[in-house]
Amino acid sequence: MSRISVNLTSQVYEYIHSVTLREDEIMQRCREETAEHRWAVMQVSPEQGQFMAFLVKMLNAKKIVELGVFTGYSSLCMAKALPADGKIIACDVNEEYTSKAKEYWQAAGVAGKIELRLAPALDTLAELVESGASNSFDFIFVDAVKEEYSAYYPLNYRLLRSGGLMAVDNVLWGGDVANPEDQTDETIAIREFNSMVHADEKVDMCMIPIGDGLTLIRKR
Ligand SMILES: C[S@@+](CC[C@H](N)C(=O)[O-])C[C@H]1O[C@@H](n2cnc3c(N)ncnc32)[C@H](O)[C@@H]1O
Repeated sequence: MSRISVNLTSQVYEYIHSVTLREDEIMQRCREETAEHRWAVMQVSPEQGQFMAFLVKMLNAKKIVELGVFTGYSSLCMAKALPADGKIIACDVNEEYTSKAKEYWQAAGVAGKIELRLAPALDTLAELVESGASNSFDFIFVDAVKEEYSAYYPLNYRLLRSGGLMAVDNVLWGGDVANPEDQTDETIAIREFNSMVHADEKVDMCMIPIGDGLTLIRKR
């Protein structure tokens, strides 16, 4: 039995891309242009985008919430995996970043599936709950403010249908969560979130060491 995962050297990482990635031209353009952005590191990796698209298809998802859009790569991956009548409520606060996202969504022909809500994610989640959308979402991708992860959680839980999935990004925070000397606000917040989910018996959960760490949480 292997005790640890394969060491992801650059060579192995490139190999994985060479034998798995199925990006189309627009996804590739979104990723290459975003690579020039000062906050390029915020974008999910292509293999993670493809993994999430795979989950969306496995769930036969039709209704998705995304918290944290940036230039739109993760929403693009998920929108392309949705059926024609599928919908993503995409939450962000930044008009500059999301105007780029809208260009890619338009070019990829998925703009009609994505409803951008330019407001703090916590407000949009609360509005969705108040509007009666509880127990209706199939998939929720969390990638916005790390210090707010624990506050998103109960709202996301309410919005998910039974059997629906939350996917939460950056749960390893570059490895800092495992370093007790790191006591920065974001690291502490992610650690607290990880412990909270681990202890929550209402859900099934696992943590995947893809990208910066992705926790999958299934509502029972
Ligand atoms: C890590 S990035 C998202 C990356 C995106 N998922 C991707 O793969 O390209 C985080 C995003 O959260 C947005 N954000 C910051 N504060 C927010 C808030 N209060 N509510 C919603 N989004 C917020 C930022 O503008 C930024 O675009």
